[in-house]
Amino acid sequence: MKKIVQNNITVVNHPLCEHNLAVIRDKNVSSDGFKNSMKRLATILILEATKDLPLKNYAVETPIRQCNVKKLDDNYKIIFAPILRAGLAISDVASAIIPEASIQHVGMYRDETTLEPVWYYDKTPVKYDNPEKIKVFILDPMIATGNSGHAAVSLFLKKGILIENLAFVSILSCPEGLQLLCKDFPDLKIITAQVDECLNDRGYIVPGLGDAGDRLFNTFEK
Ligand code: URA
Repeated sequence: MKKIVQNNITVVNHPLCEHNLAVIRDKNVSSDGFKNSMKRLATILILEATKDLPLKNYAVETPIRQCNVKKLDDNYKIIFAPILRAGLAISDVASAIIPEASIQHVGMYRDETTLEPVWYYDKTPVKYDNPEKIKVFILDPMIATGNSGHAAVSLFLKKGILIENLAFVSILSCPEGLQLLCKDFPDLKIITAQVDECLNDRGYIVPGLGDAGDRLFNTFEK
């Protein structure tokens, strides 16, 4: 998979990313079509984000003979943390790919006046034991202002997760949000499918795709 890497930002450059981004940007695509293409994008990004997960050596008996194999190292805990509600489109895919992972939802909505995140749910423990053995993937389709992503990263760091074990998976991002995250967390790994032009004055990505949550869950005010 060809990709562009800048510092810790990986922009996955794949024809299927381009194709599915074209689908979800189209305001006339159905909610079902939007969701399906979002999940295809999520699959590509999750494979990229998890490509360095640690493995452990095992032996298995194939029907033919014994064979040395590698499986995910079960000394490590894998956590997917979808930011509600749009992050659910990515966590559905992530947990299908790695069913052993723990899904720890974090809920924030955006105050439309201040554009600041307002917490309403946090399924993370008070503190993490053995953080060196925990890999966390924060899932949010959009890095727009970066404020909710910033709040989620801060939460995990405060609870003991190591920055080198933390990654942020986002379908679409923009320079403003990436700059905020990179300024305060220069070692945070970010995996995204495309970086758009800018934010508008309502905090939406331009050209973007509109409100990802509304489009996923068909909650447009018409
Ligand atoms: N959240 C969205 O769903 N879309 C944007 O453009 C910005 C934030």
